[in-house]
Amino acid sequence: MDVVAATVNFVQNKFSGEASGHDWAHIRRVYETSLRLLEQEDRPGTSRKVVELAALLHDLVDWKFNDGDDHAGPEAAEDWLTSQHEDPETIHHVCRIIRRISFKGAGVPTPMETEEGKIVQDADRLDAIGAIGIARAFAYGGFKKREMFNPDILPEMHETASRYKVSQSTTINHFFEKLLLLKDRMNTRSGKKEAEKRQQMMIKFLQQFFTECHEESSSQARELRKFEM
Ligand code: ADP
Ligand code: NI
Repeated sequence: MDVVAATVNFVQNKFSGEASGHDWAHIRRVYETSLRLLEQEDRPGTSRKVVELAALLHDLVDWKFNDGDDHAGPEAAEDWLTSQHEDPETIHHVCRIIRRISFKGAGVPTPMETEEGKIVQDADRLDAIGAIGIARAFAYGGFKKREMFNPDILPEMHETASRYKVSQSTTINHFFEKLLLLKDRMNTRSGKKEAEKRQQMMIKFLQQFFTECHEESSSQARELRKFEM
């Protein structure tokens, strides 16, 4: 069995039954979207194996469920790839992508240097927005027993990763703190194009949400107007 097939088995087993928004279905979507972006971007020299391994292993261990420890994820990926006798260069590249992939607050840059990293980061971000992103945000909010919406709790533009990590905001605020910002942080042309469609879907959803809740004059509803075109 090659390393990609072995990694599919490994990750699939590890994630069966996970209900926090980090499930095998998320990994599979990120994997498939990554391969689609790889094809659409069509940059010769991009390593398909690095894209596949980084997509499959990117959420192996999550700091959100690990007392804020963001070393655990890349280390777990490194241990796995080492056990598969993968070459050190590939391991290093994959782990570097995993270390940098996550959104860490509105004011925190998360640069990606390599084409492989750009592709997988875009695929992960696409899965946080649009219809699937809305569903995942509320699934996560429920898992964390967060309020869906409270007009008196305002969104916060986090300037540091540690402030973002301890945030206890409502799920609607998460759209303003992260989800609506992702479109402008996409790396690839095809990723950006898809993000624009998904952004429109989230804006429609939020407009309707505020209307149905009679919250059209909340500061969140007013903030939303800045994102409407
Ligand atoms: P990703 O897998 O895209 O890196 P995260 O690991 O940050 O995303 O989070 C997993 C999912 O949970 C994403 O869809 C994300 O938007 C959502 N999520 C993260 N934090 C919150 C929050 N505070 N409220 C609601 N949803 C959240
Ligand atoms: Ni992810």
